[in-house]
Amino acid sequence: MSLFSPQLVFHLAKARRVAVLTGAGMSAESGVATFRDAGGLWEKLKPEELANFEAFMSNPEIVQMWYAHRREVLNDVVPNPAHIALAGFEDLFDEFTVITQNVDGLHRRAGSRNIIELHGNILRNYCVACRQPAVDHELDRPAPDGVYRCAKCSGLIRPDVVWFGEMLPEGAIERADSAARTAEVFLSVGTSAVVYPAASIPITARITGAYVAEINVEKSAIGDDLDEVILGPAGVVLPQLLEAVVTRRAQ
Ligand code: OAD
Repeated sequence: MSLFSPQLVFHLAKARRVAVLTGAGMSAESGVATFRDAGGLWEKLKPEELANFEAFMSNPEIVQMWYAHRREVLNDVVPNPAHIALAGFEDLFDEFTVITQNVDGLHRRAGSRNIIELHGNILRNYCVACRQPAVDHELDRPAPDGVYRCAKCSGLIRPDVVWFGEMLPEGAIERADSAARTAEVFLSVGTSAVVYPAASIPITARITGAYVAEINVEKSAIGDDLDEVILGPAGVVLPQLLEAVVTRRAQ
């Protein structure tokens, strides 16, 4: 039996503009921990101690170490079939936008091109004082006094990610909102949909006329407000959905 409805395949087969919101569940099958599932990152570590600017300024060493660890984890993982299927979807439509809350860069590595990184990217770093990007190799070697500082002005180096209480990157939410408003089909994949404004994007898409489906191993906080909830791992559902749409288009 198919995991998803014939309506979803029908809508995707005739759509020209499609957008997707992805969350940590998208990378779960690559071996990257999610935030709120059992064993997720926020179970072990408190976001207020790590993912905010005040915590960073009072304890830069700990916060830098935590992000260095997360970057190391990413060195050892590869995009999974869900990322690869989304990259394949991009060729089927006039406009296909991946709006991601993930900071892991796996969509790009899988071949997606039109990506909006709502929460930044963990692989980029910059100086909090002069705001110049940090050169990667500055972070490859151990910091002399345990804290990574800017080679030019000695300011503290932080990851280019959005912390609690911070604004999203300039233009990101506007671009995401515009993709949601013009999409005929919208997919919300692997997100608990509890962090705003990201969680409002699938709702915007639905209100403005898109057919909206969620793909998640369990129903998210917004699942009841969408057209369809597909329960299953993204790495299983998305490749099957891609194949069904390609087959339908060929008929
Ligand atoms: P969460 O950890 O809150 O949610 C992960 C979602 O993925 C859950 O709904 C899971 O059920 C689902 N999931 C797990 N494995 C899956 C799989 N194989 N296939 C499909 N779904 C799966 O992560 P996000 O919703 O991304 O923000 O969290 C949003 C934001 O909260 C993050 O971007 C981060 C965090 O605080 C910042 O750091 C700014």
